[in-house]
Amino acid sequence: MNKQDVLDLLKKINYPGFSRDIVSFGMVENITVDGNSVSVVLKITTDKDDKKQAVLEAVNNVLQSTNTFEQIDVTLSEQGHTPPPTQQQQAPAEPSPLEGIEHIVAVASGKGGVGKSTVAANIAVALTQQGHKVGLLDLDIYGPSLPIILGFNENPELTQDKKLVPLNRYGMKVMSFGFISGNDTPAIWRGPMISRMTEQFFQDVIWGELDYLILDLPPGTGDVQLTLSQKLRMSGAVIVTTPQDIALSDVRKGADMFRKVQTPVLGVIENMSGLIIEGQLSGGKDVKIDISGIENVTVDKDGHFKFQVDVFKKGGGATESERLGVPLLGEIPIDKEIMDSTDNGKPLVLSHPDSPVSHVYVKIADRIHTALNS
Ligand SMILES: Nc1ncnc2c1ncn2[C@@H]1O[C@H](COP(=O)(O)OP(=O)(O)OP(=O)(O)O)[C@@H](O)[C@H]1O
Ligand SMILES: [Mg+2]
Repeated sequence: MNKQDVLDLLKKINYPGFSRDIVSFGMVENITVDGNSVSVVLKITTDKDDKKQAVLEAVNNVLQSTNTFEQIDVTLSEQGHTPPPTQQQQAPAEPSPLEGIEHIVAVASGKGGVGKSTVAANIAVALTQQGHKVGLLDLDIYGPSLPIILGFNENPELTQDKKLVPLNRYGMKVMSFGFISGNDTPAIWRGPMISRMTEQFFQDVIWGELDYLILDLPPGTGDVQLTLSQKLRMSGAVIVTTPQDIALSDVRKGADMFRKVQTPVLGVIENMSGLIIEGQLSGGKDVKIDISGIENVTVDKDGHFKFQVDVFKKGGGATESERLGVPLLGEIPIDKEIMDSTDNGKPLVLSHPDSPVSHVYVKIADRIHTALNS
C-alpha cells in the first residue's frame, strides 16, 4: 500500500456526528508509508477529547483491518491540542492591578455635594493613623476639592521620565488635578491630562508601596466612573448618600454600576443625617429645655447643651442598605465642626480627634479595613 491507498481508506471515516469524512475536513495532516510501517498525523482542533479519541481509534482500526502493516502509528499534531484562536481572543481583558498597591477603594456618590470628598479625606487620615500606608487621589478633574480640604496647594515634582511625584500631606501621599492645573505646570501634563487623566493618574504617578489608595470620584455613575472601574481592579467601593437621597434610585444605580465591573460594594455612608445643635445657657440654675419632637436634650451643670435634630426621616439609611444588601457603614450628622475643618484645611479626624463624629469616621475606616482583610 502506498500513501494514496491509505488516504483513500481514511476517506471512509466520517467525523463523529457528521456525514463528512476526516480527509475532506482537512484533519489528515501527514501520511508516511515505509515498508510495513505506517504513520498518520491528524490535526483535530476540537476541545472534545472523546471525539479526538474516537477518530484515533477509527483510523487505527481501518489500518489494522488491511492486515498489511506491522507497525501502525497514529498521532495528533501539536496544533490539534491547542484551542482554536477564536476562543483565545474571546477571553475578556482583565483590569490591571497596580503594582505595589494592596487595595484601591473608591468613594462614590450619585449626586454632587453629598460630602464624598470630606468622607474620602477623613477615611484616608483615619487609615493613616491606624498605621497603614495611604494614598489619596482626587479624580474630580472639573471640581477638585482636595487642595481645599487638605489646606495646601503645591506643584508636584516631575521626574526626568515625566512622572509625577505625589505630594505628602498629613502622612499620606496625595494627588489632585488641582495641584497640576496651575500655570507653572509643564504643558505636557496640562493638555492631555483631561483626556488621559485616568491612565496618567495611575500609570504616571509614582505611588510606590501603599496599603490603601483611596479614590475620591466625581459625582455620578457616568462614563468616567465606568471606564475607571473597568481599567483598574478595585478592591471595593463605598457609596456616600444623604438621608433624602438614600431611598431614591441613587444608591441602587451606584451599586449596580460597581457590580457590573465586579467591584464589591463595601457599604453605604449616610452623610448629613441629622443636625447637631450645641450651645450654652447662662443665667439661672436648674434649667430644662423642652423642644417639641426632640428627646434627650441634656444640659450639664455648666449650662452646656447638645442635641440632635433629625432633619430627615430617621432610620432610612439602615432600612435602605438592608434592602440593597449592602451594609450601612456609618451615619454622619450635619456638624458645624466638619464645615470648619474644611475651611481650615485639616480633616476633622485630625483637628478634633475626640469628637463623636471623628469616631464615626474612624469606625467606618475600621469597617473597610476589616471587610478587605478578612
Ligand atoms: N456631615 C457634614 N456636616 C456639615 N458639613 C458637611 C458634612 N459633610 C460635608 N460637609 C460640607 O459640605 C460641603 C460639600 O462636601 P464635599 O466637598 O465633601 O462633597 P462632595 O460630595 O465631594 O461634593 P462634589 O460632588 O462637589 O465633589 C463641604 O463644604 C463640606 O465641608
Ligand atoms: Mg468632591
